[in-house]
Amino acid sequence: MSEVASLRVDLGEISLPTPVLAASGCFNSGREMASLVDLGRIGGIVTKSVTLGPTKGLPTPRMAETASGMLNAIGLQNPGVDQFLAKEAPFISSLGTPVIISVAGTSVEEFCQVTLRVRDIPGVVAIEANISCPNVERRNQVFACHADQAAEVIGAMTRLTTLPIFAKLTADVTSITQVAEGCVRAGAFGLSLINTLLGMAIDTETFRPKLGAVTGGLSGPAIRPVAVRCVYEVARAFPDLPILGVGGVVSPADAIELMLAGAWAVQVGTANFFRPEATVEITEGIGEFLARKGLGSVTELRGRVDVPERVAEPAYRSG
Ligand SMILES: Cc1cc2nc3c(=O)[nH]c(=O)nc-3n(C[C@H](O)[C@H](O)[C@H](O)COP(=O)(O)O)c2cc1C
Repeated sequence: MSEVASLRVDLGEISLPTPVLAASGCFNSGREMASLVDLGRIGGIVTKSVTLGPTKGLPTPRMAETASGMLNAIGLQNPGVDQFLAKEAPFISSLGTPVIISVAGTSVEEFCQVTLRVRDIPGVVAIEANISCPNVERRNQVFACHADQAAEVIGAMTRLTTLPIFAKLTADVTSITQVAEGCVRAGAFGLSLINTLLGMAIDTETFRPKLGAVTGGLSGPAIRPVAVRCVYEVARAFPDLPILGVGGVVSPADAIELMLAGAWAVQVGTANFFRPEATVEITEGIGEFLARKGLGSVTELRGRVDVPERVAEPAYRSG
């Protein structure tokens, strides 16, 4: 069996050549990365989130470095779905690498309109619903923070396409399992866990927030333990549900950790900014790990975390 074959992951109808995908917003559609990364050697690409109309994004500065991570407040800047189709669809269709289109919106109707426009692009294997957006019809509450609102948007999207829908959830909730359940009941094929965590940084010389939008999303290694915990909790509740683990993956061990927690595959975000070849390096490292452990397939890692039975769960935050 070749190294690539042993890394193949089947998520129901979706077959990924490797378990390492590029995360939304950190790779665009892959066009700019193609000169730096052999796109044929990664598991797939999740595109930058696309909205119905052009979105200008938030005021600068939009990024700030933090300990073991970064804060960003881009504001879903994108040219809108029509421009996206004109510019990116031919590239995506010619690629041969599985592509998941990330769809965003501020109303259920907007999610639906974008879904209708992207659902027939050749080469697209799934849609990821970025529901970490404010719902303008519900006092700007974030869809993914409320199981009923998350379910409403996922239910509406699943009625419009036969493509599998992954709901991308936030960990900024009391119970991610409850939101996951809402999405699963509404017809989500799988989940992407997790989006950035809401954070803030202040420049102590100027007393000003480091981000133009004041608060933003924290990503990178700082959030990995949160992602591992979320994947673990949701995978235990829904053992047969395809989960894409996202958050702080920069090394093969980080990806393996998420899979041991229950992820079927992983996405790499922030690492692409400081190591553009990260997705391929992580893929290779997973192959070497499997060989060293004498494992025949990457799927043998899924959910294999060995939790001693005597440990009381849930583990509380204090002490
Ligand atoms: C600059 C930047 C832009 C992002 N844009 C999007 C986006 O458009 N849609 C989305 O669902 N997630 C977006 N994300 C979140 C990532 O896809 C990912 O969920 C998060 O960064 C955690 O993974 P990481 O620690 O590997 O970066 C963005 C992250 C960063 C750092």
